[in-house]
Amino acid sequence: TRVAVIGGGQNCEHDVSLASAAAVTAALDPASYDVVPLTIGRDGTWRDRGLRPIGLCGAAQVLRGCDVAFPVVHGPRGEDGALAALCELAGIAYVGSGIRPGALAMDKWATKLVAGAVGITTTPGHLVTPATATHERWTHPVVVKPVAAGSSLGVTLVTQSAALRPALDAALAVDSRVLVEDVVLGREIDVAVLRRADGSLLVPPALEIVADGLFDYDAKYGGHADFRIPAPLDEVDRKALEDAALSAYDALGCSGVARIDFFLTERGPVLNEVNTVPGMTAHSQVPRMFAAAGMSYPELLDELVRGAHR
Ligand code: DAL
Ligand code: MG
Repeated sequence: TRVAVIGGGQNCEHDVSLASAAAVTAALDPASYDVVPLTIGRDGTWRDRGLRPIGLCGAAQVLRGCDVAFPVVHGPRGEDGALAALCELAGIAYVGSGIRPGALAMDKWATKLVAGAVGITTTPGHLVTPATATHERWTHPVVVKPVAAGSSLGVTLVTQSAALRPALDAALAVDSRVLVEDVVLGREIDVAVLRRADGSLLVPPALEIVADGLFDYDAKYGGHADFRIPAPLDEVDRKALEDAALSAYDALGCSGVARIDFFLTERGPVLNEVNTVPGMTAHSQVPRMFAAAGMSYPELLDELVRGAHR
C-alpha cells in the first residue's frame, strides 16, 4: 500500500507536525507500506521526498499515485478540514476526519455549541471580536484564547484587570474571533477515541497531564509535562469521561483518531477541546494511550490506514 504522509503546514504548529509526520513515517511497517512523504512549507510550498518544490498540482498528482493519504498537519490549513478537502477533490482515500468535523473541531466556539447541544458540559465563556473587544471588562480570572489555533499559541491566563487588553490583542493577532473563558479548576484529562477499520470504536485508558500552570507550548514540546497513564479515576468519572468523549466524537462526525481534552472537576468532566489531528510523535499522548491499551504504535497506524475513507 502506497501511503502519502503529509507533514509541515502553514501555521505555528509546523515543527510539531514535522515531528509527528516523521514519527508516522518511521513507524509504518515497510513490509506493508511504501511511504511517499509530502511536506508543506511555512510559506505553503509543497515539496516532494527530495524537498523539491512541486506546487499544488504536483502534490495532487503525487496523491493520485498513492492508495491512501495520511495528513499529519496540525492546526489551520490542515487539521481544519483543508487537507481533507484536498483529498476529497483529488479523489484519494485519506486517514482521519472529514472536512466538517475538522472545521468544527478547529473552531472552539463551534465545538462548544455542538457539544452543548448533545449535553456535554463545556467551559463557560463568550465570544469576542475586534468589534466587541473594547467593551470587555475584567471581573474574574479568565483564559483568553483564539477560536482557531493550536498548541496554546495566543492563549493567556488573565488574573488581573490590566492584563486583559494585552491578552485580547495577543489572541486577536492569531484569529479574528477570540474566546474569553472562565478558569476551570480541575485535573487535565485527555481521552482518545479511535474508529477501527472494522467500524467499532475503541477508547484506550485516559491520560492525565501533570503540569504546573498552563499546559502551554513550552510544556508540550520542551518536555516539562508529565503524563499519568492510565489516569487514576474512579468508575463514575471514568465512565463520564468516556461517554462525553464518545458523544463529542460522534456529534462532530469524526473519523480515525481524535483526542478529546477535558478538565475533570468536582461536578464531572468539562470539555476543553477536540483534536482531530492530535500530536503523533512517539511520546505524544495518543500513541502512549493506545500503548496502554495494548496497541502498539505501528498497530495504531495500521488501523488508521485500513480505516481510511473517501
Ligand atoms: N495540537 C497538538 C499537536 C495536539 O493537540 O496534540
Ligand atoms: Mg489542541
